[in-house]
Parts: sequence; structure tokens; C-alpha cells
Amino acid sequence: MAADKTDRVALMKAKRLRLGVNCDHVATLRQVRGAPYPDVTAAALACEAVGARGITVHLREDRRHIQDYDVYALRRNLKTNLNLEMANARDIVALALAVEPDEVCLVPEKREELTTEGGLDVAGQKAELAPTVKTFADAGIEVSLFIEPVARQIEAAAELGAPCIELHTGTFCNASGRQAALELNRLIAGAVRASELGLKVNAGHGINLANVNGILEIPYLDTLNIGHSIVAQAVFVGIGKAVKEMLAHMAAYRGGRHG
Ligand code: PXP
Repeated sequence: MAADKTDRVALMKAKRLRLGVNCDHVATLRQVRGAPYPDVTAAALACEAVGARGITVHLREDRRHIQDYDVYALRRNLKTNLNLEMANARDIVALALAVEPDEVCLVPEKREELTTEGGLDVAGQKAELAPTVKTFADAGIEVSLFIEPVARQIEAAAELGAPCIELHTGTFCNASGRQAALELNRLIAGAVRASELGLKVNAGHGINLANVNGILEIPYLDTLNIGHSIVAQAVFVGIGKAVKEMLAHMAAYRGGRHG
């Protein structure tokens, strides 16, 4: 009886894991043909309507998918959080300050990459990142740093005064067997260290319905940012159902293996 009560209290305390849907590849579909459709804002609103707690877009320096007008349209229309992923580049920082997203996530960016490869080297770029982190903090915009689950990077993020990190889950998501177990343990240790330092912990990259159960073992998570797999699944079931399927899996989150 007492044990049942303890379980119930633990369940009530367990944080509801939020889903942020990355809509970049809705824009990819539009840009690849120079068409006026599909509409990124309409897709984002459809995600919100079924329970996404935020929308992420990455305004890349080469504008290969999301365009400036998408970011402004999302800002005008979203009811939940707008999270702008971006490189630490002067013109993009200026645009972000004009748009005023709820959150920005600073990522490394290379023109030749297919998608964000690896995390930001916060420890090695403290001098360049410090003014940007402060600028956004002063503007009341939450700053997140997209980093590998490495203690040195997590500690550097805390030292910079960033309130939030996003753990790069790509290596785990692409691994299998023993390698996947090792990567998952790195993510778990990273989340524990970040939580000790008082950082909010998000996670993202490469998450899909087949690997999300592993991700749910990571403690202290606030938000999962998921894009490509949801947009891909939307081809078959529609974007609302694709979001709901992911949320149904995420509802099993109980604060992770060591939470
Ligand atoms: N989080 C960050 C920081 C990213 O760069 C990306 C990819 O744009 C994602 C999450 C989403 O990754 P995916 O599209 O693989 O779900």
C-alpha cells in the first residue's frame, strides 16, 4: 500500500516530456521545387493543435530550407514556443533579435553538411559565444547550446551562463548494439551533470519511433526536438497523426533510468 503511494507520488513528480517539432523539412519540400507550398506555418499550427509544445526552425546561413519570412510568420501565428536554431553569426543574431523567438539554440554550421554534424565546441569558443549568450539573455530570450554529452562542454555552457543545453543525440540514434549502449550511457551521464549544474536539458537529432524508447532512459529531460522522422512519417499518415504517434511514445517518460 505504502509502496503504491510512493509510486503515485513519483509519477506525479515525473516531468511531462515536451515535444518540439522541427519544421525545416516542410520548407525543404517547398524549396526543392521553388513552389509556394507546403506552408510551414500551417504545418506548425497542425503540430501545435495535437499537442506539440513548441516549434523549431533552423534559419541556415545558406537559406536552404527555412526563409526569413517563415520565421516572421511563425512568430506572428504560433501559440506555443518558437525555438530558432542558428549559428553564432552576426546577421543571424540581428535577425533573431528582431524576431524575438522564445528560445534560440546555437548550433555549429557548415555549408557542405547535410544536417548539423556534431555539437558546438563551447569550451573552445567561449570568447565568441559569451557576448551572444549575454545579448540574448538581456533581450529575455532563452539561450540553449547544442552540445555533445561531454562534461567539459556541459561545464563550459554553465560557466557561460547559458540556462539550457540541448544534448546531441545523433550518435546514439545512428548506433546499434554495444555502441548504442555506450552512447546512451554518455547521454545519461551528460544529463546528470547538466542537472547538477542547474541547466535545463533538452535533446535532439536523429530521434525516430524506433529509437525514442532509448532516449526515454535519459533523466531530467525537458524537451525533445524532433524533425526529419516526423515530417517523413507525415507523408504516410499526415503531420497531425505523425506528431500524435511520437507523443504517445513519449508519454511513457518517467524521468529516465536514473531520474
Ligand atoms: N536539434 C538540433 C539542434 C538540430 O540541429 C536538429 C536538426 O536540424 C534537430 C534537433 C532535429 O533533428 P532531426 O531532424 O534529425 O529530428
